Amino acid sequence: MSERRQWLKNLLKATGICLASYPVLRFISFERKRPPKEIRVRQILKEGEHLVEPEFILFMHDNELTAVSRKCTHLGCTVLPDMAKGVLMCPCHRSRFSIYGKRLSGPAEKDLPIFEVKTAEDGQGYIVAVTRT
Ligand code: FES
Repeated sequence: MSERRQWLKNLLKATGICLASYPVLRFISFERKRPPKEIRVRQILKEGEHLVEPEFILFMHDNELTAVSRKCTHLGCTVLPDMAKGVLMCPCHRSRFSIYGKRLSGPAEKDLPIFEVKTAEDGQGYIVAVTRT
């Protein structure tokens, strides 16, 4: 068999393997996006108040609600509010975040996620859409 013919044969074989493995690799790496979990808060916050929930902290500042995730972006510890300093602190490795989730210092490299907040239909609280990672 000529060298050129052998080369074409190998090229077709390699192309076939790539084409056949693509759907398998897609299937293995497929990740279904889960819908956010809606959490009802049965409290109305006044200006300057905050509410600590297991998965987020809800702040009312400048007449705007912000729900900040409590899961530290470093290794996942639960952040705590330090309102005397106006920051969120991670007790594990001392990352600090603003009340808007912005990373200020520490080993965490990303900001804390912010969740969507809307007023409940009955006006008696809020609904926070917690996205799961
Ligand atoms: S887990 Fe928060 S700083 Fe490390």
